[in-house]
Amino acid sequence: MKEDYITFALAKGRLARTTMGFLRQIGITCAEMEDPDTRKLVFTNDDLGVRFFLSKPSDVPTFVEYGAADLGVAGKDTLMEEGRRLYEVLDLGVGKCRMCVCGPAAAAERLQHHEMIRVATKYPVIAKDYFRNKKHQTVEIIKLNGSVELGPIVGLSDVIVDIVETGSTLRENGLVVLEEVCDISAKLVVNQVSMKMKQERISAIIEDLKRVVCEEKNQGNL
Ligand code: PRP
Repeated sequence: MKEDYITFALAKGRLARTTMGFLRQIGITCAEMEDPDTRKLVFTNDDLGVRFFLSKPSDVPTFVEYGAADLGVAGKDTLMEEGRRLYEVLDLGVGKCRMCVCGPAAAAERLQHHEMIRVATKYPVIAKDYFRNKKHQTVEIIKLNGSVELGPIVGLSDVIVDIVETGSTLRENGLVVLEEVCDISAKLVVNQVSMKMKQERISAIIEDLKRVVCEEKNQGNL
């Protein structure tokens, strides 16, 4: 690993493509990343001294905390769930959705009376924090890895805690939003040591990206 390079950890998929679009606007590009058929995971632009790697979204905060990457872009959901020590420096205004408690409409009452309920979720830390510290309700958390909506449908759980974007998954499965936990969007995060050691370059990137996010907002794109 070249010490003087700035390394970005990006979440494979749409968020990485959006982030690269923002970076392109501030002059940070990476030609080898643009090949749609590539199976590479690490990409370099030696002229600019930047490197990118693509990881599972939930691993981005880990790479940044340990300094394998100086910067990263991850959803607030992942950051809250992972609870890593890093600096969250900029809301990119993309990947917007809501973290919600969802279930059949009939489950609403069970949330009012603080009954013991079962909650299926990909986000056990967020769910536990919400029910224990905000609602003071004792719940049993059941961790699932996807298709969480199945929980109440097949009788595994009373409700779910999950992200809702368009709401179509809920609608098509006869479920509704019962409570909102928090808003979610993608954040730029920075390793705490890199922030000091590479302060000049990283601050410039943050400031330039702030400007781009502002412009995108003004143009109604965010
Ligand atoms: C996410 C989330 C919901 C859905 C919400 O699942 O867990 O199921 O998207 O989006 P919507 O409100 O626009 O329908 P994802 O697509 O990541 O798949 P997964 O269920 O396998 O986690």
